[in-house]
Amino acid sequence: MRRLLRKRPALGMALLSGASTVVGIVIVLAIDWFPTQASTASRQIDTLWDVLLIASVPVFVGVMSVALYSVFAFRAEPGDLSDGEPIHGNTRLEVIWVTIPFIMVSALAIYGWIVLDDIEAKQTDPLIVNVTGQQFAWRFDYPDDGEVKSTQLTLPKDRDVEFRVNTDDVLHDFWVPEFRLKTDAVPGLTTKIRVTPDRIGEYDVVCAELCGIGHSTMRSAVHVVAPADFEAWIAKESKSEADGGAAAAGGDEAAAGKAIFTGDGGCSACHTLADADSTSAIGPGLDELTAEAQKYGEQSKQSPEEYVKSSIESPDAFVVPKFNKGIMPGDFKEQLSPEEIDTLVKYLLSVSEGKKP
Ligand code: CUA
Repeated sequence: MRRLLRKRPALGMALLSGASTVVGIVIVLAIDWFPTQASTASRQIDTLWDVLLIASVPVFVGVMSVALYSVFAFRAEPGDLSDGEPIHGNTRLEVIWVTIPFIMVSALAIYGWIVLDDIEAKQTDPLIVNVTGQQFAWRFDYPDDGEVKSTQLTLPKDRDVEFRVNTDDVLHDFWVPEFRLKTDAVPGLTTKIRVTPDRIGEYDVVCAELCGIGHSTMRSAVHVVAPADFEAWIAKESKSEADGGAAAAGGDEAAAGKAIFTGDGGCSACHTLADADSTSAIGPGLDELTAEAQKYGEQSKQSPEEYVKSSIESPDAFVVPKFNKGIMPGDFKEQLSPEEIDTLVKYLLSVSEGKKP
């Protein structure tokens, strides 16, 4: 067998590399590498990835086949301690192994550049969405649509979107895996990223930059909806923002408190509260806050109002058991006015009054 392999090594290596390349390409293309494709860019990027795989399999498999073939066919006979024949220079081989990788790498670089240029191309009339990262939550606002603010992202299908990404504190990274879209949120800079969602559904917004103790909890949702549903959502949100303002001015404290909870305060990104339809469990649920505020307030000799207020203003002074310090942003005293904090405290206590834990 080995004698046979030694006789026609070039043919043998070519057959082995060829066969294992075919098997290798079938395997890598059968693997489902990425999540759902939900943007136009995701399709182009996944095709690029497949081309990269198809190009790299023969390189890896070809090199390994030649090496294994040689190890088997040309290994020394038992007891043979003599040196191998000295070989130097093989111009034809050297030209081949420089030219082929040069052509492959250049072609892939050009293809990659074309795809990048295409997915980053300037759009006419995109929907602008400002994205703000903060330890440890995302906020989104729609400057063209009545200053609508939200802690979840809602986007219309098939409309170009331009995200302008900022941070209030440290580095974060705005990432929607289903869009194949990712950009750093850098202090002092606005980074831009463009995308066209093309599949209705619910996806995750993830923070992809280690930003502190709550990094892994810094998640939100993207809802890609039909254009008409998006218009309806914007109309509803801008009305409730207006209601919040009017309510605060006109004395409807509950509506004003709810507007702060879901809007400017961003509380709904982390806390469950049935009255505000929020279900996030990053921080303690607030449906039984009145009872809890009595219990924990007693320990620290605070009234329920004082307890809730200090929990908003200095969240790390006391942390509810099973939750961690350093997760809740410590700057609500700067983010919200004293009146807004009072409104929020009253709202939270009123909606949780009488509920037993
Ligand atoms: Cu923000 Cu990790």
